[in-house]
Amino acid sequence: MLERMNHTMHEETRQGEAYAPFVNDPSAYNKKFYIESYGCAMNFADSEIVASILNENGFGATRNFEEADLILINTCSIREKAEQTVRKRLTELRKVKKHNSGALIGVLGCMAERLKGKLLEEEKLVDMVVGPDAYRSLPDLITEAGTGQKAVNVLLSRDETYADISPVRLDSNGVAGFVSIMRGCNNMCSFCVVPFTRGRERSRDPHSIIRECTDLFNSGYREVTLLGQNVDSYYWVSENLNSTQINGVSANSPSTGGGRGEAVTFANLLEMVAMIDPLLRVRFSTSHPKDITDDVLFTMAKYENICKYIHLPVQSGSTRVLQLMNRTYTREWYMAKVDRIMEIMPDCGISSDIIAGFCTETEEDHQDTLSIMQHSKYDMSYMFFYSERPGTLAARRYQDDIPEAIKKRRLDEIVKLQNALSRESNLKDLGKTFKVLIEGNSKRSDQDWMGRSSQNKVIVFPKEQYQLNKGQYVMVKVHDCTGATLIGKIEP
Ligand code: SAH
Ligand code: SF4
Ligand code: F3S
Repeated sequence: MLERMNHTMHEETRQGEAYAPFVNDPSAYNKKFYIESYGCAMNFADSEIVASILNENGFGATRNFEEADLILINTCSIREKAEQTVRKRLTELRKVKKHNSGALIGVLGCMAERLKGKLLEEEKLVDMVVGPDAYRSLPDLITEAGTGQKAVNVLLSRDETYADISPVRLDSNGVAGFVSIMRGCNNMCSFCVVPFTRGRERSRDPHSIIRECTDLFNSGYREVTLLGQNVDSYYWVSENLNSTQINGVSANSPSTGGGRGEAVTFANLLEMVAMIDPLLRVRFSTSHPKDITDDVLFTMAKYENICKYIHLPVQSGSTRVLQLMNRTYTREWYMAKVDRIMEIMPDCGISSDIIAGFCTETEEDHQDTLSIMQHSKYDMSYMFFYSERPGTLAARRYQDDIPEAIKKRRLDEIVKLQNALSRESNLKDLGKTFKVLIEGNSKRSDQDWMGRSSQNKVIVFPKEQYQLNKGQYVMVKVHDCTGATLIGKIEP
């Protein structure tokens, strides 16, 4: 999923980046909550919904967990390591509770959903366990936990999208924001725990999405990333018989569903968001290769402000392994999809997720993964070795039979190849000029700006004498690169 993190290439790429929120006018609230998030961007976006629900109920955010009345951890179950990280953190927080005996500790998100009451009963690590579809019940659960009752709600829903809740932006740079457009996943990739922790796929009402994006734009944001586990299967059918017209874009007649109302596809939604304002950049994540259509690609090509960047996880380059993974495409089909993207948008950046050492993977399968990486010329990838997750199809059907040393060696080869591909991709950018959206100061110096190109590459450049601000666009000519970063100079 959507990535605002840097190009790190290890097992734990997506988790461990915890954050605490800004203090938002503490005097307005009589209690304080502290929240840390792990896992994918959807979890980070959910924490902003939780913050909104808590604000409404008299809790203000604090960055300091030692002074909090409520400590929340929004957790990830995607790999075993992700869960270990959270357990370690919970043990640390438990110690704080000893000093501050009034504080309640709650586990939110995917681990809460997977382990349910177990965290409360067997391990006694926490006071509250709340699954991803149960955040509206947080105020009641806090009251229950406060009186020493077991506070657990892990019910999954078929229709909860939190559409009406305005997220409270946490630790944001004020320029780029995430907007959830759907929840859950129906795909059942055999290695993946997400369908179990997040439930059935459902799409959010497009009106509420457009409203949220417009609000972000009006408060100074210049980039939105539309989030879902599989955004290309976004599909919303209006209840009304009237045609759905949002932002001047008419929705399609539904191809299925008996002719009631009008349907909004992901391509329609993208167009609606792109039309909010040409100054608002639009990104999205994640695309499942089987669902991304020509319609989406042509819509991307049509609007300058839809970023030319697709995260298109391949997982494996071997058709045999892809079949065991239940990804529903073959090696050839995936390569044809990459070719089609490049045909329609020759300047499009592509990145991937790759799993090394899935059940039964042979050296030949592994070579297929390396060669599909070469073919796709990924700018960047998130790379993992396979971690068996209890309850998944793969855990039930196949043996996790690749020894750890081999998994690691294969992952190492994948990482090395990706580093070479990233470098090649960056070298190709030398001498080119990119339109960069300024996100803030560079990490190293307040004399330099940091921003991104449409292709999602980080570009750092000196501020020089120009009076610019974050949230502005500027043309930057690239003359150098270090690791994952391009270095440039403002083009006057
Ligand atoms: N919905 C997104 C991915 C969500 S999970 C998609 O389909 O692309 C993010 C990534 O974690 C996956 O793409 C996969 O590469 C990796 N992943 C998921 N389950 C895993 C497991 N059991 N072991 C190792 N990596 C896994
Ligand atoms: Fe998991 Fe597959 Fe759904 Fe992605 S598409 S969340 S990998 S089941
Ligand atoms: Fe992790 Fe749940 Fe996201 S398992 S990757 S936080 S959907």
